[in-house]
Amino acid sequence: DPMTSARPSLSPPIVIAHRGASGLRPEHTLAAYELAIEQGADVIEPDLVPTKDDVLVARHENDISDTTDVADHPEFAGRRTTKKIDGKTITGWFTEDFTLAELKTLRAKERVPLLRPGNTAYDGRFEVPTLAEIIALAKRESKARGRTIAIYPETKHPGYFASIGHAIEPRLIAELKQAGWDSADAPVFIQSFEVDNLKALHALTPVRLIQLLDKEGGPADGAVARYAAMTTPAGLKAIAAYAWGIGPNKAMVMNGRMPTDLVRDAHAAGLRVHPWTFRAENYFLPSTYRKGINPRGHGDVAGEIRDQLQAGIDGFFTDFPAIGVEARDAA
Ligand code: G3P
Ligand code: CA
Repeated sequence: DPMTSARPSLSPPIVIAHRGASGLRPEHTLAAYELAIEQGADVIEPDLVPTKDDVLVARHENDISDTTDVADHPEFAGRRTTKKIDGKTITGWFTEDFTLAELKTLRAKERVPLLRPGNTAYDGRFEVPTLAEIIALAKRESKARGRTIAIYPETKHPGYFASIGHAIEPRLIAELKQAGWDSADAPVFIQSFEVDNLKALHALTPVRLIQLLDKEGGPADGAVARYAAMTTPAGLKAIAAYAWGIGPNKAMVMNGRMPTDLVRDAHAAGLRVHPWTFRAENYFLPSTYRKGINPRGHGDVAGEIRDQLQAGIDGFFTDFPAIGVEARDAA
């Protein structure tokens, strides 16, 4: 029972609820975070983007077309627009064009209804939460449960937002200061894919920072070669100059069931390793699931987590915190 667990708060390996218990509730809602905490997650993960009035809110992208009912609001029809963000051209509704008060009139909905049909029962019920509300939830639940629940905010598109006058970092630091969570041992981990963003944060805050790493994708700037260079022993040493840990794509930790050198090399550089994302569904086949074909082809999530724990990871991101907690506690 996570309520009565004798496990010391935040002792590794930690279970990080990815966008909340997003396998079971629409992602980035207080309901998704609450369920994650109930299921024993150590940490809840909000991805952060700014509103027009520079309040940080939890959404995976600033484009809210797929995760809110904005399209059903005729008063916002004129806000639909096309933007180029980090090399991608996107048409939709964007958080930075809405005040917080306007955003609060929208309701969250399930992003992948064909993959997670059960979650659509919650469509239309929950607001888009602010970072301040998420911090308040973590504090309240920590107190009620007698264990520390941490937050793991990710700055989304920080370079883009700085370029349009909506920099995320100063807001994030101000909110953490306000919460008294701006020290090295605060229950906070800040993550980003963008190196410059993390280096800037390193100069501004002692809070633990995590460099996200991917196999491919990212800003259209030769990301594949960049990540390869960043995961050599020398590259990891360079990351350790500004970050506390790395958050790699899980496929960088294991090649099938064979561990790569990444955990060993990262630990040698003094970095902790928190891979992402353990989930049941074949999530990255949108063209398939949109057609409803094989929407839930999946492997053994618990087994995959156990293999990676065996490989020495210090925590992990999962959409299913109950499965993660069980696999972690059995290991
Ligand atoms: O932050 C770790 C993982 O969440 C990165 O991927 O796209 O789910 O934010 P994403
Ligand atoms: Ca994230």
